[in-house]
Amino acid sequence: MKILLTGGAGYIGSVTTKELLDRGHDVTVIDHLQEGHREAVDKRADFIEGNIGDSKVLKKAFSKKSYDAVVHFAASCLVGESMENPSLYYQNNVLASLVLLEAMRENKTPKMIFSSSCAIYGDPDEMPITEDNPRNPTHPYGESKLAFERILKWYSRAYGMKAISLRYFNAAGATDELGEDHAQETHLVPNVLKTAMGQLPFVEIYGTDYLTQDGTCVRDYIHILDIAEAHILALNLEASDSFNLGNGNGYSVLEVIEAAEKICGVKIPTQKSKRRPGDPACLIASAKKIQEELGWFPKYPTLDEIISSAWKWLQKHPAGYAEPAKHR
Ligand code: UFG
Repeated sequence: MKILLTGGAGYIGSVTTKELLDRGHDVTVIDHLQEGHREAVDKRADFIEGNIGDSKVLKKAFSKKSYDAVVHFAASCLVGESMENPSLYYQNNVLASLVLLEAMRENKTPKMIFSSSCAIYGDPDEMPITEDNPRNPTHPYGESKLAFERILKWYSRAYGMKAISLRYFNAAGATDELGEDHAQETHLVPNVLKTAMGQLPFVEIYGTDYLTQDGTCVRDYIHILDIAEAHILALNLEASDSFNLGNGNGYSVLEVIEAAEKICGVKIPTQKSKRRPGDPACLIASAKKIQEELGWFPKYPTLDEIISSAWKWLQKHPAGYAEPAKHR
């Protein structure tokens, strides 16, 4: 297939680009390199530097090839930042995505695979979360993903394009070559590992008074290669749909730190801190639908495999990618 992939210099986009190329697909990447790394983009991909909200950039991309699908990763994706700057999230995740969708419509591109998030569900009481769970985001990041899912639903209905939304739970882990290197690292797994490496003095634990088994937040961590695989399977779908993408196992912040201590062989210093605004207490996926309907099964489902792969990558790349992102 000919695929236009947005955000291909980013964490999950770069891994998916490589996996698609390995299976013989033709991939064109668009990325503005504000957060991503040119070095992370597989050399076999065509590369266009630019913003997906810029119609001139899109004109260039769509004039090159007739795409079978757009795989849309490019987005702002930090819960905390979205609480402080909602405008950025509506601009990048809704407005810019709409410009992309219009370009698809104009060029008759039949399909989009969209990086959605479990953040659309908010803070549900019942676990695991199924696709039918009420949507009630607790932060603008989640709202922006839900808004675009809704846009996709109506575009799909009116214009006949197919839209498949994959609602990721917590992406983590690395491949041998590709890993997590954000300008401002806010995610738990890389922060824990950077602390193990001595790059950070301690891990802040955001909140110890949640109604969970040990008072810290519980998340469902999923390996980025398993996320990439779900995109490849979704490309074969001929109907619009939405799927949760997680392992169905929840781990608290303390459990992640404990697992990392065993893997890294060091004591990881921590500091208890107040809750981070917008954080739900517990998010665990039911992955039944994607397993039954797409035949997706995780190859790296355990927390140990996920953390070990990220640790291996960090040891090989202690300063991240050689070329920093432009935003830095
Ligand atoms: N946490 C800490 N200390 C840290 C970093 C995080 O205690 O230094 C806690 C957070 O409060 C949260 C958990 O660890 O409870 C996981 O936090 P992350 O920042 O790693 O991930 P989030 O759950 O906030 O968000 C991530 C992505 C979103 C996505 C969401 C889905 O950033 O894009 O997962 O759950 F929507």
